[in-house]
This record gives sequence, C-alpha cells and structure tokens, in this order.
Amino acid sequence: MGIFLLFITFVFQLNAYVLGDDPPFETNIVGGQIADIEDYPYQVAVIQDERLWCGGSIANPNYVLTAGHCVFMAIMPLFVHAGSRYWYNPGSVHEVDFNITYTTEISTTDDVALLHVVEPFVYDATHQAIPKLKNGLMGVVTGWGSSHDQGPQDELFAVKVPIIKPEICNRIFKDTLIGEIHLGEFCAGSYGKSSCQGDSGGPLVVRGRQAGIVSKGLGCSNAQYLTVYADITYFYEWITSHISE
Ligand SMILES: *[C@@H]1O[C@H](CO)[C@@H](O)[C@H](O)[C@H]1NC(C)=O
Repeated sequence: MGIFLLFITFVFQLNAYVLGDDPPFETNIVGGQIADIEDYPYQVAVIQDERLWCGGSIANPNYVLTAGHCVFMAIMPLFVHAGSRYWYNPGSVHEVDFNITYTTEISTTDDVALLHVVEPFVYDATHQAIPKLKNGLMGVVTGWGSSHDQGPQDELFAVKVPIIKPEICNRIFKDTLIGEIHLGEFCAGSYGKSSCQGDSGGPLVVRGRQAGIVSKGLGCSNAQYLTVYADITYFYEWITSHISE
C-alpha cells in the first residue's frame, strides 16, 4: 500500500510507506506507459533500506538531482540505482556520501536537493545526464511511483502531462494546504495523468530538457491530478554552481 507523504494535509510524492501514516509528500505515475530506460537514461531510483524511496535524475557524473523532502525525510543512508527499467534490479548501484539541500530544514517550497554519489555514473545507453532548462507546454514525467494510489511499480513508467497556468492551479489548490503556487514552483497534470507517490524527486522533461522535480500533490486520483513541481529554471544557478565545483 503506497502512502502519499502527507505534509500536514498535503502530500509530498515520496514512496513513504516505510514511515507509516502521515508522511508529507507524495507522487507517482498515473495513466502512463511502461518505459525503456534507454528512452529515459537520466532516470534513477533513490533507495532507502532496499526499497524505492524517491526518483531522481542524473545531473552530472557525480550528482543526482532530487526533491529536498526526499533527503530530509530519510532516516537511513541513501543509495542510487541507475541504468535499469526495474528500480530493484539496477544496472549500477551508487552509494550516496553526502547531500546538498536548498533549504536548511524541510520546507514545502524550494523542494530541491543534490545527492553526491561515491561511484560516478559512466555514461552509456542507460546512463546519461539530463539537460536542464524549462521552456514549453507538454512534459514527460517518469518514475516507479504508484499508478493509482497503490504501492510502487516494478517497472519504470512515463506519462505526458501538460504544464498548467499558475492561476488555474491556484484556483484548485486555493482552499487546500498546498495553497498558492510559489515562486520556484509550477504545476502540471491532466485528468487521469499525473505523478503519484514514489515519484518524488523524479524529473519532468520538456523537449528533452529537465523542467521540474516532482514535489507534492493532493493525491493521484482523477479528481486530484495536479502535481506541483520545483521549477528548474528558478533553481538553475544553485544547481549548476554546486555540481560544477
Ligand atoms: C544529508 O546531509 C546531512 C548533513 O551532512 C546529514 O546529516 C544527513 O544525514 C544527510 N541525509 C541523508 C539521507 O544522507
């Protein structure tokens, strides 16, 4: 049973079933299709205690980009599984030796973090860095998160989602604990197509470039399809300054 991490009342899109009730963020792929890793070679699984914990993307040979809450809510060491359609059967395993978070404590906004891996990624058909820049209307989000408010999927899924104007998101989220879309966030999704729990930290790509990081939502059912993403454009300087040092 997958549980959306409920931060207060909303949900970070973590695959937080290990934490029990009431986790803060949720996300996995709803309405998508099974995906080949060769088509999404930047996608990685963030593993805690041998379970799928979050998604992430390869930022460069040494760093994975993920959501801040995926780091702050972890209680055990993290590993990265890369290069495979199956999160539990990786092409390569990478130990995380340190992390860099945008905020100093867990936050419902600015939900961005970098994981430094001990064993660098070796680029090949199943391991590639993700280009970062947001510009466009339709994105593809990938992950092993639930497909309909259930537990994680074995296989990687991908789904196309439209990026939605902040005014529309604000109207839908206004009276919920998500509230307004903040600077550094955008929202995306359409009826029956969204990310869900277990997808947190994973990438949303627009025209081949990373536009967002799966952050939070209210659920993954048809009525609650919109997901909030950290906006890569907003965090671009921070990300590039840390991974190029
Ligand atoms: C992230 O880094 C902080 C500061 O070094 C550390 O205390 C924490 O354990 C790390 N979190 C994870 C999940 O590795």
